[in-house]
Amino acid sequence: MKLLRLPGLIDIHVHLRDPGEIQKEDFYTGTLSALAGGVTTVFDMPNNIVPIFSRKSLLEKLSVAKSKAVCDFGLYFGSIGDNISEFEKAAADVIGLKVYLSLTTGKYVLGDEDKLKIIFQNWPKQKIIVFHAERDRIDLVIRLMEKYGNKVHITHVTTKDGLEKIIAAKSDNLPLTCDVTPHHLFLTDTSGVIVKPALSTKKDQDFLWNNLKSIDCLVSDHAPHTISEKKSDKPPSGVPGVETMLPLMLTEVKKGRLSVNELIRLTSTSPRKIFNLPQDDSAYIEVDTAEEYIIENKSLFTKCAWSPYAGWQVAGRVKKVYLHRKLAFENGKLLVSQGFGNYLH
Ligand code: DOR
Ligand code: ZN
Repeated sequence: MKLLRLPGLIDIHVHLRDPGEIQKEDFYTGTLSALAGGVTTVFDMPNNIVPIFSRKSLLEKLSVAKSKAVCDFGLYFGSIGDNISEFEKAAADVIGLKVYLSLTTGKYVLGDEDKLKIIFQNWPKQKIIVFHAERDRIDLVIRLMEKYGNKVHITHVTTKDGLEKIIAAKSDNLPLTCDVTPHHLFLTDTSGVIVKPALSTKKDQDFLWNNLKSIDCLVSDHAPHTISEKKSDKPPSGVPGVETMLPLMLTEVKKGRLSVNELIRLTSTSPRKIFNLPQDDSAYIEVDTAEEYIIENKSLFTKCAWSPYAGWQVAGRVKKVYLHRKLAFENGKLLVSQGFGNYLH
C-alpha cells in the first residue's frame, strides 16, 4: 500500500442526464460514480432532454440535483441564441454558459453568427462561456472574444491544429482556457469508439500529451448512454468516464508521463482559478498508488454500467474520499446520504 493524498478532483464537464434520461444516469448515481473516481465536484452540462435554456428548467434541475447529489455540483446554463432575456434571470445561479457550435448529443447547435454575437454581448463578462467548438469554430470564438471581451473556455480539444490556435490566443493574453478528456488522451480514431468531438489520430493525440502544460483542465465529459443504444445501428456519441479518469491518469503518472503536481493542476488548481472557487481543504482523497487492478463493467457505479476501458489494467485505487470534513466514501462504500452534495454557484 502506498497512500497518496490529493485534493478532491473538480470535473467541470459531465452529463448526468437528470432530469429526462434517468435510464442512463441520475444525479445520485452520477455523483456516486464521481466520488468513486475521487471527484468531489462536478459541473453538469445543459443538454438535457428539456434543455436548460430557461430559469424554469434550471430550477427544476436544481431541485432534483439538490435532493440527490452526493458530491458538490454546479450547473451550466445553455443557449442557442433564443433565450437572451433569460440570461439575467439565470446567470447568478449557474457557474457558466455552455454553447455548442458543433453537433453533438441533443443537437442544440448554434450556427448563426449574429446570434452568437448577441450571446457574447449579453452574457455577463466576468462569467465564463464554455464552447464546444471544432475547427473553424475555434477561430470564430477567438475572434469574437477579442472583440467583446468575454472570458472563454474551449472544452475537449482534440487536434494539434485546434490546440495550436488556442496556444496562440493565450500568448496574445486573451482570457482563454481549455481542457482535454481522457478519451482523447487514451483512445484514437482507430478504436471504433463514438464520441464528439470524434477521436483524433495518434499524431494529434501525441501533440496533446506533449503540450499538457498548455492545457488548463482535465475533464471526463462523462456522457453515459445505455449499452443497447451504443450497440445499435445509430449509436449516440459519448462515453462514461468520471470514475475512470483518475486511475487512468495515475497509471500514466507511474509511467512518468506526467507528474502528480501536473495532475493536481489539471484537476484542482486550474478549475478553481477559472471558476473562482474558494480553496476547500475539506475535500481531499486518499489513493493507493500501488494497487493495480483491471477496470470491469460490473464494478462501476455509473448507472449505464460500462466503460470503454473495461479490461484495461490501471494503477491507483481510490480508498477514501473526504468532503465537508466527513469521510463520504471508503473502499467502494458510500457513507453519506443523498443530498449531501453542496450546490456551487
Ligand atoms: O460525445 C459526446 N457526448 N460529446 C458531447 O459533447 C456531448 C455528449 C453527450 O451529451 O452525450
Ligand atoms: Zn460534453
